[in-house]
Amino acid sequence: MKIAVIGTGYVGLVSGVCFAECGHDVICVDNNQRKIDNLKSGKIPIFEPGLDQLVIKNSNEKRLHFTTQIPEAVRICDVIFIAVGTPPLPTGEADLSYIENVARQVAQAMTEYKVIVEKSTVPVKTGEWVKRTIRFNCKSGVEFDVASNPEFLREGSAIGDFLKPDRIVVGVESERAADLLRGCYQPIIEQSVSFDLDKQEVIHQPAQGNRVPFLVTNVSSSELIKHASNSFLALKISYINAVANFCELAGADVEQVARGMGLDSRIGSKFLDAGVGYGGSCFPKDVSAFLEISRELGYEFDLLEEVIRINKLQRELFVRKVKKAMWIVKDKTFAVLGLSFKPNTDDMREAPSIDVINALLEEGASIRAYDPVAMEVAKESFGDRITYCSDPYDTAKNSDAVILMTEWDEFIQLDMKRIHSLLNYPIFIDGRNCFEPADMARLGFDYYCIGR
Ligand code: UDX
Ligand code: UDX
Repeated sequence: MKIAVIGTGYVGLVSGVCFAECGHDVICVDNNQRKIDNLKSGKIPIFEPGLDQLVIKNSNEKRLHFTTQIPEAVRICDVIFIAVGTPPLPTGEADLSYIENVARQVAQAMTEYKVIVEKSTVPVKTGEWVKRTIRFNCKSGVEFDVASNPEFLREGSAIGDFLKPDRIVVGVESERAADLLRGCYQPIIEQSVSFDLDKQEVIHQPAQGNRVPFLVTNVSSSELIKHASNSFLALKISYINAVANFCELAGADVEQVARGMGLDSRIGSKFLDAGVGYGGSCFPKDVSAFLEISRELGYEFDLLEEVIRINKLQRELFVRKVKKAMWIVKDKTFAVLGLSFKPNTDDMREAPSIDVINALLEEGASIRAYDPVAMEVAKESFGDRITYCSDPYDTAKNSDAVILMTEWDEFIQLDMKRIHSLLNYPIFIDGRNCFEPADMARLGFDYYCIGR
């Protein structure tokens, strides 16, 4: 099939590359000329394990193309995915102006039937607006369908998630659109593609017996599934963080509580890791957008407000924990390990590290920081207000305490004796519960963590 993906951010680029790997002809479009020039020469704008090899491979095999020209992509392709950003406005609503703009340009270029698919996360009812925009802007008599196909991939494991999803959701108004979308996903539904994370390559294999559920709904339900899923996951994290705070007062251990809860298959063990709270480009934005669209439709979804409040509080409580550990923060130097909002990505959007570091800087502390891949991106947030170090040991040197913000594997495997010997004081404040308190005590650390 011939597939266009408009917007080459995390979602668009990963989707485009994976569709190409499934054997389709894919044109990726972006209005950022520099990004497109870089992609054409094999330079990838983001850090995502395995993505660079797949871009180069599929470009060389002529299944993956890059352009800034929407009309060219629309002319050639049957299915057009829109994956441009939907960032939050100051009100919490999603900014849908990029979607509208792209929908208009797609409509103006259409001369025959196309399916236009919302891939970006959008509030319920966006499909109706996109349909109206296209109807007003396309030539009369040109048929089209608008569909919704939310993406559930996680940064850091995006390719694996795209090729082996728990489910594929499509919201459609016609069988024709559903069939075309089923065609796009056929190898994934049949599980004849999978991703080997160690070798970072896609494995092609005979169709497996089990099929990935392909759920066909109406457009509004599909849009809602994305917001409701992400908000539920965010709720799960805020819930366990609230339990963690309770554990600290009650003398319980949140890791043990989460394990005990997670063994109940109705609850499940995933997304019960207590810490400094969730960040990233999706959860904060999607929970706010869900709350706002809900208000707009006439329902006060206060539960979501509380999810956001707990998440914000979690960062504040962490700063308080740092203060409690240090007594005085002013003029202290902190070794911050990890800046990205989670491991295996260089994404800093809504990263808890930003709030925590800013709060400590305001108190007069100095920050030495290290992240395996997010240092360049972090410079956009912190500029020269912090010192960027070459590795964790360099970071710890002459610092008064370690603060761990992101649970990169590299940090879990550190030589802790060496870290201990480099610090002025043996204080370790762990925002992600990466270590056993008893082990850290044995090594001589004053170890602080979350809910234990
Ligand atoms: C995407 C979705 O847009 C978002 O709704 C979802 O919740 C998460 O995934 P992401 O892929 O992370 O976000 O977005 P971003 O990295 O901002 O990429 C968007 C791309 O669209 C950028 O490359 C930008 O240059 C491009 N773009 C934006 C266009 O090509 N045209 C526009 O008009 C606007
Ligand atoms: C999320 C969703 O998981 C994905 O389905 C959706 O399409 C996009 O948004 P992503 O933001 O890439 O993916 O990362 P995710 O792994 O979900 O983590 C989000 C945040 O929650 C991170 O800051 C992470 O540290 C935090 N988190 C996650 C916790 O604090 N505890 C947990 O148990 C799990």
